[in-house]
Amino acid sequence: MNTEYIHSFTESEQQRLVAQAEFLAHYTHPFLEFSPSDSVLEIGCGVGAQIKLLSNSHSYKKIVGIDFEPKQIEKAKQILLNEIKLGKVELAVGSGTNLPYADDYFDVVYIFFVLEHFYNPSLILQEIKRVLKPGGKFFCTEVYNSGISIFPANEYLTHYWDQFNKLQTRIGGNPDIGIQLGNLCIDAGFIVDKFQSSIPILDKRMKSLGERKRFLNMWETLFVSGYSLLCEKGMIEEDADTKISLAFEKILLNEESIFLYSLWQVLAIK
Ligand SMILES: C[S@@+](CC[C@H](N)C(=O)[O-])C[C@H]1O[C@@H](n2cnc3c(N)ncnc32)[C@H](O)[C@@H]1O
Repeated sequence: MNTEYIHSFTESEQQRLVAQAEFLAHYTHPFLEFSPSDSVLEIGCGVGAQIKLLSNSHSYKKIVGIDFEPKQIEKAKQILLNEIKLGKVELAVGSGTNLPYADDYFDVVYIFFVLEHFYNPSLILQEIKRVLKPGGKFFCTEVYNSGISIFPANEYLTHYWDQFNKLQTRIGGNPDIGIQLGNLCIDAGFIVDKFQSSIPILDKRMKSLGERKRFLNMWETLFVSGYSLLCEKGMIEEDADTKISLAFEKILLNEESIFLYSLWQVLAIK
């Protein structure tokens, strides 16, 4: 198990996860397909933000969410109170490397932004393969942090992002795991059915100031989510959050700005 986590389990980080899931759903959720009879597992469900959204957009029999951090599951129980009461959702504290479920149990397993934090993603993939029914589907969405592009280049954000990714790697994660998903699934014995990128982009097509603010706020809060640990490790200056905020303001106000990020998604079949 990794002993440190680049984000945190604070109240503000929990709120960021909800906002992030809501913002990215447009880019990531159309990829997921469930049938009304499907039993579904989410590993690393965090505060249940993805389950909440998918409950409104997708039909399924039951979703089980598991996360190894008790604080996340506690919050998820509040967010998903109704779904739990209706018997549509179950939550448990547990690790993706040791799933408390029988072999061939689930029709679908999905993951958002978890393998990037784990030192040995193959261990989780092997467990997923064990609990999926033959022919069952595994949907995974992960980050590719090297795939961020900012135009005109911003020296401070480049420096900060570089430190962020160095720290995530140093504590056992992989901020570029997205592009490896196809290979990792093949190595775990899955058949890779789809492997694609999804690219949120801000450029001149995004005209509304409100929309541009919401877009940039998503990435600014992601950058800031590593701020406490980076400070603690002496890897960035204490006024980094102010500098980040000024840099994003500059991007917002420049109509020539381009900001893009690349997410990667795999659908693998057992
Ligand atoms: C960035 S959050 C994503 C949460 C959620 N998937 C979402 O998209 O909102 C990563 C979550 O994975 C959990 N996690 C990381 N490694 C895990 C593991 N090996 N087993 C279970 N949960 C894990 C963390 O506790 C954290 O809640």
